[in-house]
Amino acid sequence: MTAPVVTRVVGADDAGIADAVSRLAGGGLVAFPTETVYGLGADASNGEAVARLYAAKGRPSFNPLIAHVPDLAAARALAEFTAEAARLAQAFWPGPLTLVLRKTPRCPVADLATAGLDTVAARVPDHPVAQKILAALGRPVVAPSANRSGHVSPTTAAHVLADLGGRIDLIVDGGATPVGVESTIVACLDGPALLRPGGLSRATIEHALGRPLAAAPANAPGAAPLAPGMLASHYAPRTPLRLNAENVEPGEALLAFGPGFVGGADKAVRVLNLSPRGDVIEAAANLFSHLRLLDAAGATAIAVMPIPHDDLGEAINDRLRRAAAPR
Ligand code: TXA
Ligand code: MG
Repeated sequence: MTAPVVTRVVGADDAGIADAVSRLAGGGLVAFPTETVYGLGADASNGEAVARLYAAKGRPSFNPLIAHVPDLAAARALAEFTAEAARLAQAFWPGPLTLVLRKTPRCPVADLATAGLDTVAARVPDHPVAQKILAALGRPVVAPSANRSGHVSPTTAAHVLADLGGRIDLIVDGGATPVGVESTIVACLDGPALLRPGGLSRATIEHALGRPLAAAPANAPGAAPLAPGMLASHYAPRTPLRLNAENVEPGEALLAFGPGFVGGADKAVRVLNLSPRGDVIEAAANLFSHLRLLDAAGATAIAVMPIPHDDLGEAINDRLRRAAAPR
């Protein structure tokens, strides 16, 4: 159980940033915007703060966290960079790419945050608020998406407050997050492997590497999952989802995509379009907030029109599949 606390929401001005930094330095829990989604931050080197973070999220403690740092130099203190990892970092940091690498011997990230693995996930976010907080704190910050475990990731401060109000110390409101889906996770241990599709497309990464990304290795039964965020049921609204819908049944809400219409849309409980012009980047930015709104529409199910699989479509379809998984 987590003791209730008063959650304050502050602006992303100098005073708000200073407040966030001193809370983090004191072991507090602070939600802040990144370019992908809002993260719930804790000092990565403070095991107790990390434990409180797991409790606030209600997250299974075997699920390791991403350590956020302001730049590649800071990341090198945490992790051993293979040549290919360095090439990816130089090409895409700051940006929506997380690299899973071997820990350095002096890695300050608490064992609890890496779930006892000998690897660490490192990320340099491309958002001015996140950058200012990380640079001023001077320590890595672990930051899972700032939602209760299993809920939809937050893209606004209001989403964070709805999920975590009374459980965390501070929310820095920096407006809606531009990318809207979480970072792409690539492991660079042996060869590079895609662990989670996300805000940087597979094709862009493969182009920079000059070779294809391997698939995530299958998890041995009972072993610590390599990327437990890959658990089948995740990102879940309470209302069931019906994917690749070609019509709307009575009582359903519709999550539309593109300029076309599907049969029965005029009778839908509520219709929201991820991107009327059929742009997957716009759709990613709208995905989680539209899911939240349709989840609150009192529908029997959310019918989801087919979304193309190219570019960020891979990440969107991945999140939708998880949201639709039986649980
Ligand atoms: O965009 C993002 O990445 C956001 C923002 C806040 O930065 N963060 C985020 O964190 O999505 P989270 O905790 O929701 O997802 C972290 C993912 C999980 O799937 C976890 O299993 C994986 O990263 N992960 C972390 N450390 C790992 C490791 N050492 N090996 C494999 N997977 C790891
Ligand atoms: Mg998450």
